[in-house]
Amino acid sequence: MTKRSGDIYRAQRAYFERAYETGEHGWPTDGVSPMVARFLRTFRSRDRRVLDIGCGEGRHTRAFAGAGALAVGADLEPKALARARKATGRDGSARRGLVFVQADVFALPFPHSTFDVVLDYGCLHHVRRRDTGRYLEQVVPLLKPEGHFLLSCFSTKFKHHAGERRTRDWLVHRGHYDRFFRRKDFDAIFGSEFEILEVAEDRDGLYVFHNVLMRKRKDGKGHRAASGRTIGPEKR
Ligand SMILES: C[S@@+](CC[C@H](N)C(=O)[O-])C[C@H]1O[C@@H](n2cnc3c(N)ncnc32)[C@H](O)[C@@H]1O
Repeated sequence: MTKRSGDIYRAQRAYFERAYETGEHGWPTDGVSPMVARFLRTFRSRDRRVLDIGCGEGRHTRAFAGAGALAVGADLEPKALARARKATGRDGSARRGLVFVQADVFALPFPHSTFDVVLDYGCLHHVRRRDTGRYLEQVVPLLKPEGHFLLSCFSTKFKHHAGERRTRDWLVHRGHYDRFFRRKDFDAIFGSEFEILEVAEDRDGLYVFHNVLMRKRKDGKGHRAASGRTIGPEKR
């Protein structure tokens, strides 16, 4: 990690710590996003292994456990995990098969090919563009071949406030990093490892997200990782 990356990630940790101290952070704490709700209706979740990266207060982790999955919520921020644990059971969600662990997306402590489903609702867009390879290097091998990856991240149409003008697809503000994605980015980032099944735009006023449903290829070509290594689907 470069010094400047380290500085922004340090500031970002403090940003998320403050966010969960107050709980007034502006992203959802309950309920599931429409794409996750649709996926849960058709996917046979029972006893499947699910990883929710950057799980926050665990709304999606709880939903998968409630559907019978063995669901792991992973987040870097302990205060998020404390809230997630406290919320468990409050909304009728299952405790069985549900676990929350503190983990950095750049150092995920799970064996390769562990999970049938991986979700990332709102973590990748806080990863610096230059660290995309390091993210993929960690996340992709954890999914089994033909496993599903559900991703939600900021669209380039996203605005923090009316009249916001950006000249780049990222910015640093209020002590954290935001990256904004175009539809074509998903193919460029994930296309060699994943079949992209759906990209849906989700709009809530000025806030516009891409929700992406992908399936890991059985025979992924592997992508060039930050380290220069090529990661194949089965590589450990
Ligand atoms: C916008 S919140 C989304 C929370 C949740 N996924 C949801 O949909 O409600 C982003 C989450 O990513 C977590 N996060 C940010 N950087 C992370 C990292 N390097 N490793 C793990 N989690 C991280 C934050 O602590 C925060 O809980």
